[in-house]
Amino acid sequence: MAYSDKVVDHYENPRNVGTLDKNAQEVGTGLVGAPECGDVMRLQIKVNPDTQVIEDAKFKTFGCGSAIASSSLATEWVKGKTIDEALAISNTEIVKELALPPVKIHCSVLAEDAIRAAIGDWKKKNVGAEELAAAAH
Ligand code: FES
Repeated sequence: MAYSDKVVDHYENPRNVGTLDKNAQEVGTGLVGAPECGDVMRLQIKVNPDTQVIEDAKFKTFGCGSAIASSSLATEWVKGKTIDEALAISNTEIVKELALPPVKIHCSVLAEDAIRAAIGDWKKKNVGAEELAAAAH
């Protein structure tokens, strides 16, 4: 199967590969796996506490070329966005941007899941206890 030029570009020159300190208050970490193939993706965000803008993002992906390209693209897209804007990113946009074929759609779902998991982790650390209690009722 042929990869699109954009997938090859992200695969050969992945953006934002690396690790942020997962114990830092302003960092959210998402670790997700694809049951279809066993590939694993970790995506981390660093959020400005005052503005809720994502100032940095890093990823590490043990997976296929499309998963690496999807996570590389995801880190590019979330940077500079607020938490709410980043939550609006959907895998279909990734599929479109990278021209992924149907058998590779789950690779983009993994990237969407990783963004959501990273934001969820950040919220757990940073949303006040009262707010969590309020949300539970
Ligand atoms: Fe499973 Fe791509 S083949 S993430």
